[in-house]
Amino acid sequence: MKATAIANSNIALVKYWGKRNKKHMLPMNSSISVTLDGLHTTTTVEFDKKYKHDRVSLGGKELPKGEEKTRVVRHLDLVRKLAGTKLRARVVSENNFPTAAGLASSASGFCALSLAASVAAGIGLDEKNLSILSRLGSGSATRSVYGGFAEWLKGKKADGSDSYAVQLEDEGYWKDFRLITTIVETERKKVSSRTGMRDTVKTSPLYKAWLETVDKDLSGMRAAIRQRDLAQVGEIAEVNCLKMHATMFTTNPRVLYWQPATIAVMKAVVEWREAGEKCWFTIDGGPNVKVICLARDAARLARRMEDVTGVKKALVCRPGEGARLSAGDLF
Ligand code: PMV
Repeated sequence: MKATAIANSNIALVKYWGKRNKKHMLPMNSSISVTLDGLHTTTTVEFDKKYKHDRVSLGGKELPKGEEKTRVVRHLDLVRKLAGTKLRARVVSENNFPTAAGLASSASGFCALSLAASVAAGIGLDEKNLSILSRLGSGSATRSVYGGFAEWLKGKKADGSDSYAVQLEDEGYWKDFRLITTIVETERKKVSSRTGMRDTVKTSPLYKAWLETVDKDLSGMRAAIRQRDLAQVGEIAEVNCLKMHATMFTTNPRVLYWQPATIAVMKAVVEWREAGEKCWFTIDGGPNVKVICLARDAARLARRMEDVTGVKKALVCRPGEGARLSAGDLF
């Protein structure tokens, strides 16, 4: 059977950084994100006896043996186990944005793969179980199941059965919320978030402070989204992101994702805000700065961001929909 799914990327407003259990991909803290329209992965999966091995193609290129392909094959193994099948698969996946440059390609990628593969294998998963399956591929993928604003609950159980995302508000709740993403560099990053967060939990003297303060960020963020309070969302997201990067900077070996253009945009955002603009930044595990603002200011701010040296592109996104099936098979 063959199935195609589309999942949007999401950007965390309160970040996930650090695992308490590697095998089950369980986070140290809960996180809150907004799912973005315009940045998505489309994935077609077919399980069939004509395939002798799993074949995976990403962005038009067949993945060679290696870490990236192994991650996908392991994910297919989980689906095969759930479905009770041994059939091999062909996977074809396309992103409409650069992979592994801090635009959360693993979130949309593993969420689309989970939905397409589970349906192609004949198992119907509800949203909670789709979220759990997505989590096993990539933590941030847990949240892309839902449109709008979502919270990934860290859970308490050792088997991860209570660690999944829930929707806080759907994509229609806050129609004039915008997030502008910049592309300052499109190369693949050198330190994966997996390695970076593992080293941070082990070595950063600031990680304790991160864990001690994140619950307050989460409750503040939930309330700010509920009240559509941009200044509160922006303020909490900006400080939360800087706290996460502070733990990265103090990790051994260092986890430094910023480029000169990253700092240039951050400083510009703060200056514009001091001059009266309503804008705040957040940055994930990469060099690209995302700017939180309202619809009425988005085009102007995007133009100003594109004028900052080193910024290649600024893309305005609104809250997007959750993962869904598509009739447009890629092969
Ligand atoms: O699940 P990963 O490996 O994509 O890690 C995501 C880490 C951050 O993007 C930095 C934060 C987050 O919550 O998305």
